[in-house]
Formats: sequence, C-alpha cells, structure tokens
Amino acid sequence: MSYLVTGARVIDQNGERRGDVRVNDGFIVEVGPDLSRNDQDRVLDASGCVLSPGFVDLHVHLREPGREDAETIETGSRAAALGGFTAVVAMPNTDPTQDSVEVVDFVRRQGERAGWCEVSPSGSITVSRAGEQLTPFAELADAGVRLFTDDGNGVQDPLLMRRAYEYASDLDVTLAQHCEVESLTAGAVMHEGECCSKLGLPGWPSLAEELMVHRDIELVRLTGARAHFLHLSTAGSVDLVRAAKGAGLPVTAEATPHHISLTDSLLASYNALYKVNPPLRTPQDLAAVRDGLADGTIDAIATDHAPHVPESKERPLDQAPPGMIGLETALGVALAHLEMPLVDVIAAMSWKPAAIAGIADRHGRPVEPGEPANLTVFDPSTEWEVVPAQLASKSHNTPYVGIPLRGRVRHTIFNGDAVVIDGKLQDK
Ligand code: DOR
Repeated sequence: MSYLVTGARVIDQNGERRGDVRVNDGFIVEVGPDLSRNDQDRVLDASGCVLSPGFVDLHVHLREPGREDAETIETGSRAAALGGFTAVVAMPNTDPTQDSVEVVDFVRRQGERAGWCEVSPSGSITVSRAGEQLTPFAELADAGVRLFTDDGNGVQDPLLMRRAYEYASDLDVTLAQHCEVESLTAGAVMHEGECCSKLGLPGWPSLAEELMVHRDIELVRLTGARAHFLHLSTAGSVDLVRAAKGAGLPVTAEATPHHISLTDSLLASYNALYKVNPPLRTPQDLAAVRDGLADGTIDAIATDHAPHVPESKERPLDQAPPGMIGLETALGVALAHLEMPLVDVIAAMSWKPAAIAGIADRHGRPVEPGEPANLTVFDPSTEWEVVPAQLASKSHNTPYVGIPLRGRVRHTIFNGDAVVIDGKLQDK
C-alpha cells in the first residue's frame, strides 16, 4: 500500500519543516515539498496538522489474558491507534501474570493478530507479581522483553530488588518501578492531605512514593542497572529524579496525563472514576510534575490506561479498583495542560518512550526516507470533548467528560498501513 500525506508540518527530533511524506511498502520513501502524486498513492490530507513519529505508550493495561470483560488486546490496541500510538507496552498484571515466555508470547501474538499497533509485553519482576521470587529475566529477555515491572504493585523487599537490579545490569533490560511502600498506603483511597482530612477518607501519603523512588535511586547507584520510574505523582519524587539525573545515574521517569491535569479535590464527589493509583495529588504536585516534563526530568508521558468494568467503578470508593482509561485522550490532555514547545510534547510521547521501551529501532524514528513508517498525524488546535460511548476501549471509565481537550489525532500509520484515517479506524 502506498500513501501520500500532504501539506503537513513535519516535526521530529531533527526539527520542523513543511512538506509531504510518501509511504510505500512499510517505509517512508520520500519527504519534501509538493511531491508528485502517483496513481497508486492514497492521498491523506494533513493541512493544518502535524506529522510526527508515531506515539509510544510505556504503560497500558490491556487486561488480556484474564479480564477480557474490561478490555482485550484487540479493543485496547484499537483505542491506542485512535490515540495516535503505534506501539504500547503492556503491563504484566494479567491473569495469568506475564511472568513466563508463554504468556508474553501470547500477548505479543494477540497484538500482531489485532494489527492496530505494536504490543510490546513487559515481563514481571517477580513470579505472579507476588514479590517473593524473581522471574527468569534472561529467558524473558531472549523472548524480547525489554522492560520488567510488577506494576500494580511495587517490589517491597529491598534485598529482592537489589538482586533484581544486579541481575538486570548484566542484561540489556530496564526495571520499571511502581513506587509505593504498601505499609504506608493500606486502605488508602486518595492523596493524604487537606482534602482527604476534610472528607474523612484514608490517605495515601506522598512519602509512600518518595521512599521507594529514593530506595531505587540508591540501588541504581549501587548496581549500575537502569531504572524507570512509573507514573510519578509528587513534587518530592520529581526532585529526587532530577538530582539522580544530575548525578549521572541511568534513571528515566514518566508521568500520566491525569497527574498533570486533575487534582485530589475531585474526590469530594466520592466518585470512584477519580480513584487511581498513585492518587490524584495537589495543585502544587501537578505544577511540579509539569515542570519536570518541561525540563526533561520526566522523560515520557504514559497513560497508565486502566480499563475497569462499570460495575466495579460504581462501587463505594473503598471497594472500587483504582484506574482510569487514557489512550484516546492522552494527546488532548497533554496539549490542553502543558505549556511546553510542541516538539517537547512529541518527544515525551514518541522517541523518548521508544528508547525506554527498547523499540527505538522501529518506533520514534526520524521522518526520513528509509525509516519504518510508524507515524502520527494530528491537529494540535482542535478543541473537543470526549464522549464515552464513542470510545473504542471496551471500558469507559474516563474522568474527562465535560473537560475541554485540545489536539486530536487525524491519521495513524502503523507499519506502513493507515490504520486510522480522518479519526476513523480502517477496516482490514
Ligand atoms: O490506578 C491504577 N490502576 N494503578 C495501577 O498501578 C494499576 C492499575 C490497574 O491495573 O488497574
């Protein structure tokens, strides 16, 4: 299949220029102003739009295997394509857990079968994510796993985590930590602070995140292994990572769209749509996370897309599971809430996460002839509101209803195939 994308602002790691982009047989073949039209080209209009390397989401819960009532790899990767993502990293808290070659191969194959974007499975750090015994890292790395995490939980035992970093430092893999000291968060439903005291609800203190960020930075200093910090949410965590990077340690970090746009005061509604782990924080924390993204302390925007069936989110706050979906709204939230140069937002959604995910040979590549055609075309100024019933995700637990978003994906090209054209999934 051959496409000619016309009239775009092309933005990548090499800067910005205007032009057309021709894609043929999976690759970019020509980039330049006013390219001639060939009969076989399907023309995709990109006037008023930005064309960039495809987005990469380091953090999605696709729920398959195990909770296909909430999401499947098919429905989750459709949502990803609509959100402009050409690759996503699937978190391991499936049932069974992604702790064996069989399960990670299954997830990868289901992604290939769906064909909407690349689904890169993470592997868990510990067997069944139980925090007791390490998984076979080398075997999983041979099966293509580049990111290991127990996400949903942090690894509590410092000795086990030390061994994990020692083991990882011999392999070309990254350990991604969900930072939460669980003895400090038992029973918590929201951020511990003024709002939580007023509402009389059990709180999740910032310290529970920051202690583990600190511990893992010190383990990186000791072992030389690479660490990635998932969904950072507090001002203190951002400071710790900034200092670690300043000291030259091999650490990276991500922040979610909800931790730059929604505050803990929303929990006054007692609506479990706003319950998420780590919890929504204070305006000061949000500002610190945004500053962290702006100065590069936080490398990536990652959604923590966490679908849940309606029955579970309708339960009282203390019984409802944490999490919100985010794939289809990520760009709209980022552009509405960040005052960063557009190229830096794209960096945080494309080539920086591609490098952390270990897939930079095929995603987040410069827009140049010879490169694999994984591309996103979006209108950065469209204002819109999300309509849950129109989402491709099987679950509709978005907190953004009625909140203006800015920036919408128009076309997504995955492996040379336009899987989304004019905001619509293309039949295969
Ligand atoms: O809010 C969250 N939901 N945080 C997590 O760490 C896990 C996720 C889930 O799996 O639902």
